Amino acid sequence: MTNNDATYHVPVMLQECLDGLNINPDGVYVDVTFGGGGHSRAIFEKLSSKGKLIVFDQDPDARANAWEAPNFHFVAANFAFLKNHLRVLGIPAVDGILADLGVSSHQFDDAKRGFSIRSNEALDMRMNQAGDFTAAKIVQTYDEEQLAAIFRKYGELDHPFKTAVELVKARNKSKIKTTGELMEALMPVAPKFKDHKFFAQVFQALRIEVNQEMDVLEKFLLQTADVLKPDGRLVVMSYHSLEDRLVKNLMKRGNLDGSIEKDFFGKVLKPFEEVNRKPILPTEEEIQRNTRARSAKLRIAKRVADGK
Ligand SMILES: C[S@@+](CC[C@H](N)C(=O)[O-])C[C@H]1O[C@@H](n2cnc3c(N)ncnc32)[C@H](O)[C@@H]1O
Repeated sequence: MTNNDATYHVPVMLQECLDGLNINPDGVYVDVTFGGGGHSRAIFEKLSSKGKLIVFDQDPDARANAWEAPNFHFVAANFAFLKNHLRVLGIPAVDGILADLGVSSHQFDDAKRGFSIRSNEALDMRMNQAGDFTAAKIVQTYDEEQLAAIFRKYGELDHPFKTAVELVKARNKSKIKTTGELMEALMPVAPKFKDHKFFAQVFQALRIEVNQEMDVLEKFLLQTADVLKPDGRLVVMSYHSLEDRLVKNLMKRGNLDGSIEKDFFGKVLKPFEEVNRKPILPTEEEIQRNTRARSAKLRIAKRVADGK
Protein backbone atom coordinates (compact mmCIF):
# COMPACT_ATOMS: atom_id res chain seq x y z
CA MET A 1 0.00 0.00 0.00
CA THR A 2 1.31 3.50 -0.77
CA ASN A 3 1.48 6.17 1.89
CA ASN A 4 -1.38 8.61 1.95
CA ASP A 5 -0.42 12.07 0.74
CA ALA A 6 -2.30 14.18 3.29
CA THR A 7 -2.16 17.14 0.92
CA TYR A 8 -4.23 15.27 -1.69
CA HIS A 9 -7.33 15.16 0.48
CA VAL A 10 -8.17 14.88 4.18
CA PRO A 11 -11.06 12.39 4.51
CA VAL A 12 -14.21 13.89 6.02
CA MET A 13 -16.09 12.13 8.86
CA LEU A 14 -13.84 9.11 8.46
CA GLN A 15 -14.91 7.23 11.58
CA GLU A 16 -18.58 8.01 10.95
CA CYS A 17 -18.31 6.59 7.42
CA LEU A 18 -16.59 3.43 8.68
CA ASP A 19 -19.25 2.98 11.36
CA GLY A 20 -21.92 3.54 8.72
CA LEU A 21 -20.51 0.80 6.50
CA ASN A 22 -20.61 -1.63 9.45
CA ILE A 23 -17.71 -3.53 7.88
CA ASN A 24 -17.68 -7.30 7.69
CA PRO A 25 -13.97 -8.21 7.28
CA ASP A 26 -14.80 -10.85 4.66
CA GLY A 27 -17.21 -8.60 2.76
CA VAL A 28 -17.03 -6.78 -0.57
CA TYR A 29 -17.03 -2.98 -0.46
CA VAL A 30 -17.06 -0.24 -3.07
CA ASP A 31 -15.72 3.29 -2.64
CA VAL A 32 -17.04 5.10 -5.72
CA THR A 33 -15.08 8.31 -5.01
CA PHE A 34 -11.53 7.13 -4.29
CA GLY A 35 -9.73 10.54 -4.52
CA GLY A 36 -6.75 10.51 -2.17
CA GLY A 37 -7.87 7.11 -0.91
CA GLY A 38 -8.25 8.20 2.73
CA HIS A 39 -11.58 6.47 3.26
CA SER A 40 -10.54 3.50 1.13
CA ARG A 41 -7.36 2.89 3.06
CA ALA A 42 -9.28 2.82 6.33
CA ILE A 43 -11.86 0.41 4.87
CA PHE A 44 -9.13 -1.83 3.44
CA GLU A 45 -7.41 -2.04 6.81
CA LYS A 46 -10.57 -3.55 8.27
CA LEU A 47 -10.79 -6.29 5.63
CA SER A 48 -9.38 -9.80 5.83
CA SER A 49 -7.67 -11.40 2.84
CA LYS A 50 -11.11 -12.79 1.92
CA GLY A 51 -12.63 -9.30 1.85
CA LYS A 52 -12.45 -7.15 -1.26
CA LEU A 53 -12.38 -3.43 -2.02
CA ILE A 54 -13.27 -2.00 -5.41
CA VAL A 55 -12.71 1.73 -5.92
CA PHE A 56 -13.82 4.14 -8.65
CA ASP A 57 -12.52 7.55 -9.70
CA GLN A 58 -13.06 9.32 -12.98
CA ASP A 59 -9.99 11.49 -12.46
CA PRO A 60 -6.85 9.72 -13.73
CA ASP A 61 -4.75 11.62 -11.11
CA ALA A 62 -6.41 9.56 -8.36
CA ARG A 63 -4.83 6.35 -9.65
CA ALA A 64 -1.48 7.45 -8.21
CA ASN A 65 -2.98 6.92 -4.72
CA ALA A 66 -4.01 3.33 -5.47
CA TRP A 67 -2.03 0.34 -4.24
CA GLU A 68 -1.38 -3.19 -5.41
CA ALA A 69 -3.15 -6.01 -3.63
CA PRO A 70 -5.00 -9.11 -4.83
CA ASN A 71 -8.17 -7.98 -3.11
CA PHE A 72 -8.06 -4.32 -4.26
CA HIS A 73 -9.12 -3.00 -7.65
CA PHE A 74 -9.08 0.55 -9.06
CA VAL A 75 -11.67 1.33 -11.74
CA ALA A 76 -10.93 4.49 -13.75
CA ALA A 77 -14.53 5.32 -14.55
CA ASN A 78 -17.54 7.41 -13.68
CA PHE A 79 -19.65 5.93 -10.88
CA ALA A 80 -22.67 6.34 -13.15
CA PHE A 81 -21.49 3.00 -14.62
CA LEU A 82 -21.21 1.19 -11.27
CA LYS A 83 -23.34 -1.82 -12.16
CA ASN A 84 -21.67 -2.45 -15.51
CA HIS A 85 -18.18 -2.39 -14.05
CA LEU A 86 -19.11 -4.68 -11.17
CA ARG A 87 -20.64 -7.10 -13.66
CA VAL A 88 -17.44 -7.06 -15.74
CA LEU A 89 -15.47 -7.79 -12.56
CA GLY A 90 -17.78 -10.73 -11.81
CA ILE A 91 -19.21 -9.15 -8.65
CA PRO A 92 -22.98 -9.62 -8.49
CA ALA A 93 -23.57 -7.95 -5.11
CA VAL A 94 -21.67 -6.01 -2.45
CA ASP A 95 -21.87 -5.43 1.31
CA GLY A 96 -21.37 -1.69 1.30
CA ILE A 97 -21.03 1.36 -0.92
CA LEU A 98 -19.41 4.65 0.04
CA ALA A 99 -19.78 7.86 -1.95
CA ASP A 100 -18.01 11.06 -0.86
CA LEU A 101 -19.30 13.46 -3.51
CA GLY A 102 -17.74 16.46 -5.20
CA VAL A 103 -14.13 17.33 -5.81
CA SER A 104 -11.02 16.53 -3.79
CA SER A 105 -8.69 19.12 -2.27
CA HIS A 106 -6.12 18.07 -4.85
CA GLN A 107 -8.44 18.92 -7.72
CA PHE A 108 -9.54 22.11 -6.02
CA ASP A 109 -6.18 23.51 -4.96
CA ASP A 110 -3.29 21.88 -6.66
CA ALA A 111 -4.27 20.52 -10.00
CA LYS A 112 -4.35 23.88 -11.81
CA ARG A 113 -7.57 22.86 -13.44
CA GLY A 114 -9.60 25.98 -12.91
CA PHE A 115 -11.70 24.83 -9.92
CA SER A 116 -10.46 27.51 -7.54
CA ILE A 117 -11.12 31.23 -7.31
CA ARG A 118 -7.68 31.65 -5.77
CA SER A 119 -5.59 31.28 -8.90
CA ASN A 120 -5.86 32.37 -12.50
CA GLU A 121 -6.16 29.28 -14.68
CA ALA A 122 -7.83 28.17 -17.88
CA LEU A 123 -11.61 27.76 -17.39
CA ASP A 124 -11.59 23.97 -17.36
CA MET A 125 -13.18 22.29 -14.26
CA ARG A 126 -13.37 18.80 -15.77
CA MET A 127 -12.84 15.99 -13.27
CA ASN A 128 -12.21 13.66 -16.20
CA GLN A 129 -10.10 15.35 -18.82
CA ALA A 130 -11.03 12.83 -21.47
CA GLY A 131 -14.22 14.77 -22.25
CA ASP A 132 -14.18 18.10 -24.06
CA PHE A 133 -16.99 19.88 -22.20
CA THR A 134 -15.29 22.60 -20.17
CA ALA A 135 -16.32 25.64 -18.12
CA ALA A 136 -14.97 27.79 -20.98
CA LYS A 137 -17.49 26.18 -23.31
CA ILE A 138 -20.37 27.03 -20.96
CA VAL A 139 -19.17 30.58 -20.43
CA GLN A 140 -18.79 31.11 -24.18
CA THR A 141 -21.85 29.34 -25.54
CA TYR A 142 -24.71 29.24 -23.01
CA ASP A 143 -27.33 31.92 -23.51
CA GLU A 144 -28.59 34.16 -20.69
CA GLU A 145 -31.44 31.80 -19.71
CA GLN A 146 -29.17 28.76 -19.57
CA LEU A 147 -26.53 30.61 -17.55
CA ALA A 148 -29.14 32.02 -15.15
CA ALA A 149 -30.62 28.52 -14.69
CA ILE A 150 -27.33 26.97 -13.57
CA PHE A 151 -26.42 29.98 -11.41
CA ARG A 152 -29.82 29.69 -9.67
CA LYS A 153 -29.96 25.91 -9.34
CA TYR A 154 -26.38 24.89 -8.73
CA GLY A 155 -24.90 28.12 -7.37
CA GLU A 156 -27.94 29.34 -5.40
CA LEU A 157 -27.05 32.91 -6.38
CA ASP A 158 -29.33 35.73 -5.20
CA HIS A 159 -29.33 37.41 -8.63
CA PRO A 160 -28.74 34.69 -11.22
CA PHE A 161 -30.22 36.55 -14.18
CA LYS A 162 -28.34 39.77 -13.49
CA THR A 163 -25.14 37.72 -13.27
CA ALA A 164 -25.88 35.94 -16.54
CA VAL A 165 -26.63 39.25 -18.32
CA GLU A 166 -23.33 40.72 -17.08
CA LEU A 167 -21.42 37.67 -18.26
CA VAL A 168 -22.92 37.81 -21.75
CA LYS A 169 -22.24 41.57 -21.94
CA ALA A 170 -18.59 41.02 -21.02
CA ARG A 171 -18.02 38.10 -23.39
CA ASN A 172 -19.42 40.15 -26.27
CA LYS A 173 -16.60 42.63 -25.67
CA SER A 174 -13.80 40.07 -25.32
CA LYS A 175 -13.52 36.31 -25.00
CA ILE A 176 -13.45 34.95 -21.42
CA LYS A 177 -10.88 32.16 -21.28
CA THR A 178 -9.58 32.11 -17.71
CA THR A 179 -10.94 32.07 -14.17
CA GLY A 180 -9.37 35.49 -13.61
CA GLU A 181 -11.08 36.94 -16.69
CA LEU A 182 -14.41 35.49 -15.53
CA MET A 183 -14.07 37.08 -12.10
CA GLU A 184 -13.09 40.40 -13.63
CA ALA A 185 -16.11 40.24 -15.94
CA LEU A 186 -18.48 39.58 -13.02
CA MET A 187 -16.91 42.03 -10.58
CA PRO A 188 -19.56 44.74 -11.31
CA VAL A 189 -22.32 42.41 -10.01
CA ALA A 190 -20.36 40.84 -7.14
CA PRO A 191 -21.81 41.95 -3.79
CA LYS A 192 -19.43 44.20 -1.83
CA PHE A 193 -17.60 42.39 1.01
CA LYS A 194 -19.28 39.13 -0.05
CA ASP A 195 -17.52 38.73 -3.38
CA HIS A 196 -15.57 35.66 -2.20
CA LYS A 197 -18.79 33.76 -1.48
CA PHE A 198 -20.39 35.00 -4.72
CA PHE A 199 -17.49 33.77 -6.87
CA ALA A 200 -17.38 30.46 -5.00
CA GLN A 201 -21.08 30.02 -5.86
CA VAL A 202 -20.50 30.90 -9.54
CA PHE A 203 -17.61 28.42 -9.73
CA GLN A 204 -19.64 25.72 -7.99
CA ALA A 205 -22.45 26.17 -10.53
CA LEU A 206 -20.05 25.84 -13.45
CA ARG A 207 -18.32 22.81 -11.92
CA ILE A 208 -21.60 20.96 -11.32
CA GLU A 209 -22.69 21.68 -14.92
CA VAL A 210 -19.34 20.73 -16.49
CA ASN A 211 -19.29 17.37 -14.73
CA GLN A 212 -23.07 16.81 -14.98
CA GLU A 213 -22.90 16.02 -11.28
CA MET A 214 -26.63 15.85 -10.62
CA ASP A 215 -27.28 13.62 -13.60
CA VAL A 216 -24.54 11.10 -12.75
CA LEU A 217 -25.56 11.12 -9.07
CA GLU A 218 -29.12 10.18 -10.06
CA LYS A 219 -27.86 7.37 -12.30
CA PHE A 220 -25.61 6.06 -9.54
CA LEU A 221 -28.22 6.22 -6.77
CA LEU A 222 -30.74 4.33 -8.88
CA GLN A 223 -28.30 1.42 -9.24
CA THR A 224 -27.39 1.06 -5.58
CA ALA A 225 -30.38 -1.06 -4.52
CA ASP A 226 -29.65 -3.58 -7.30
CA VAL A 227 -26.03 -3.89 -6.30
CA LEU A 228 -26.33 -4.14 -2.50
CA LYS A 229 -26.91 -7.42 -0.68
CA PRO A 230 -29.75 -7.52 1.87
CA ASP A 231 -28.54 -5.60 4.95
CA GLY A 232 -25.79 -4.02 2.82
CA ARG A 233 -25.03 -0.39 3.63
CA LEU A 234 -25.25 2.72 1.49
CA VAL A 235 -23.16 5.59 2.91
CA VAL A 236 -23.29 8.91 1.08
CA MET A 237 -21.66 12.20 1.99
CA SER A 238 -22.89 15.24 0.10
CA TYR A 239 -21.90 18.90 0.14
CA HIS A 240 -24.80 20.61 -1.60
CA SER A 241 -28.52 20.71 -0.77
CA LEU A 242 -29.55 19.41 -4.20
CA GLU A 243 -27.34 16.34 -3.80
CA ASP A 244 -28.56 15.75 -0.27
CA ARG A 245 -32.19 15.96 -1.37
CA LEU A 246 -31.72 13.11 -3.85
CA VAL A 247 -29.92 10.96 -1.29
CA LYS A 248 -32.56 11.68 1.35
CA ASN A 249 -35.44 10.88 -1.01
CA LEU A 250 -33.89 7.58 -2.04
CA MET A 251 -33.17 6.51 1.53
CA LYS A 252 -36.47 7.68 3.04
CA ARG A 253 -38.93 7.01 0.22
CA GLY A 254 -37.20 4.73 -2.25
CA ASN A 255 -37.09 7.09 -5.19
CA LEU A 256 -35.44 10.32 -6.20
CA ASP A 257 -38.49 12.59 -6.43
CA GLY A 258 -39.69 11.84 -2.92
CA SER A 259 -43.04 10.30 -3.90
CA ILE A 260 -44.33 7.33 -1.92
CA GLU A 261 -45.30 4.02 -3.51
CA LYS A 262 -47.40 1.53 -1.52
CA ASP A 263 -48.35 -2.09 -2.11
CA PHE A 264 -51.90 -3.50 -2.04
CA PHE A 265 -51.82 -3.65 1.78
CA GLY A 266 -50.57 -0.08 2.18
CA LYS A 267 -46.98 -1.03 2.96
CA VAL A 268 -44.51 1.54 1.61
CA LEU A 269 -42.39 -0.02 -1.11
CA LYS A 270 -38.80 1.01 -0.69
CA PRO A 271 -35.44 -0.72 -0.96
CA PHE A 272 -33.78 1.09 1.96
CA GLU A 273 -34.27 1.69 5.65
CA GLU A 274 -32.44 4.65 7.17
CA VAL A 275 -29.84 3.83 9.80
CA ASN A 276 -29.94 7.46 10.99
CA ARG A 277 -33.11 9.45 10.49
CA LYS A 278 -31.21 12.74 10.45
CA PRO A 279 -28.01 13.40 8.52
CA ILE A 280 -24.78 13.17 10.50
CA LEU A 281 -22.82 16.44 10.52
CA PRO A 282 -19.13 16.99 11.25
CA THR A 283 -18.19 18.12 14.75
CA GLU A 284 -17.01 21.70 15.37
CA GLU A 285 -13.60 20.24 16.11
CA GLU A 286 -13.45 18.56 12.68
CA ILE A 287 -14.55 21.75 10.92
CA GLN A 288 -11.80 23.67 12.75
CA ARG A 289 -9.28 21.07 11.59
CA ASN A 290 -10.63 20.73 8.06
CA THR A 291 -12.78 23.57 6.71
CA ARG A 292 -13.80 21.40 3.73
CA ALA A 293 -15.91 19.35 6.14
CA ARG A 294 -18.14 22.32 6.93
CA SER A 295 -20.96 21.67 4.47
CA ALA A 296 -20.82 17.86 4.62
CA LYS A 297 -23.95 15.82 5.36
CA LEU A 298 -23.66 12.10 5.83
CA ARG A 299 -26.59 9.75 5.29
CA ILE A 300 -26.60 6.02 5.92
CA ALA A 301 -29.14 3.43 4.88
CA LYS A 302 -29.49 -0.34 4.93
CA ARG A 303 -30.74 -2.44 2.01
CA VAL A 304 -33.99 -4.02 3.08
CA ALA A 305 -34.17 -7.76 2.37
CA ASP A 306 -37.76 -7.73 1.13
CA GLY A 307 -37.74 -4.19 -0.27
CA LYS A 308 -38.79 -3.54 -3.87
C1 LIG B 1 -14.42 14.42 -2.24
S1 LIG B 1 -13.30 13.50 -3.21
C2 LIG B 1 -13.17 11.98 -2.38
C3 LIG B 1 -12.08 11.94 -1.37
C4 LIG B 1 -11.84 10.61 -0.75
N1 LIG B 1 -12.96 10.14 0.01
C5 LIG B 1 -10.60 10.62 0.10
O1 LIG B 1 -10.66 10.23 1.28
O2 LIG B 1 -9.55 11.05 -0.39
C6 LIG B 1 -14.26 13.03 -4.58
C7 LIG B 1 -13.50 12.20 -5.61
O3 LIG B 1 -14.48 11.53 -6.38
C8 LIG B 1 -14.22 11.68 -7.74
N2 LIG B 1 -15.51 11.73 -8.41
C9 LIG B 1 -16.45 12.69 -8.31
N3 LIG B 1 -17.51 12.40 -9.06
C10 LIG B 1 -17.24 11.21 -9.64
C11 LIG B 1 -17.96 10.38 -10.54
N4 LIG B 1 -19.15 10.73 -11.02
N5 LIG B 1 -17.39 9.20 -10.90
C12 LIG B 1 -16.17 8.84 -10.44
N6 LIG B 1 -15.43 9.61 -9.62
C13 LIG B 1 -15.96 10.78 -9.22
C14 LIG B 1 -13.43 12.94 -7.89
O4 LIG B 1 -12.61 12.86 -9.04
C15 LIG B 1 -12.64 12.99 -6.58
O5 LIG B 1 -11.38 12.41 -6.72
